[in-house]
Amino acid sequence: ADPDPLQDFCVADLKAPLSVNGFPCKPEAEVTSGDFFFDGLSKEGNTTNIFGWSVTAANVLAFPGLNSLGISMNRVDFAPGGLNPPHSHPRATETGVVIEGKLLIGFVTTSNVFHSKVLTVGQMFVVPRGLVHFQLNVGEGKALLFTAFNSHLPGSAVVPTTLFASRPSIPDDVLTKAFQVGNDVIDNIKSKFSS
Ligand code: GLV
Ligand code: MN
Repeated sequence: ADPDPLQDFCVADLKAPLSVNGFPCKPEAEVTSGDFFFDGLSKEGNTTNIFGWSVTAANVLAFPGLNSLGISMNRVDFAPGGLNPPHSHPRATETGVVIEGKLLIGFVTTSNVFHSKVLTVGQMFVVPRGLVHFQLNVGEGKALLFTAFNSHLPGSAVVPTTLFASRPSIPDDVLTKAFQVGNDVIDNIKSKFSS
């Protein structure tokens, strides 16, 4: 979904004072082989949190060599029962492959149709750009997923935290009406994310 590059590469200078759409390139004379390799996805993430999951991003911010190339990846670790909560990527279609365990993978279309399947090792999925999706570990042990995106910075809007843990918070009047419940329910949900 990113624009096509107009040069072989453009290793991001993340500290450049100006950026318009993406990041400026670091001078070619300063580019080294190291700029094209990244080992940030080699380690298991810490899944000790309310969702029992961890996303490690290999996007342009972590791996500046991806700048302008329209591609990036994530490593997603799941504790038993762990959930990658419903979220969407405004700038990318996502594909992924299960590396370990068993995951229920699903997304909802803009016509409100839910597509889902339980996947095991080696199996793949695709989530069309912008659609809300999740993965739930339905296996016995841990699970591991690698995902890929057609953007160097796909972005992620996580539904529960977007709605219930924004700063400042969305007024209760909006959420009680949207979900057709009382303030007690909204405050209870908000309290789960305050820390
Ligand atoms: C999974 O949905 C991911 O965004 O990596
Ligand atoms: Mn995703």
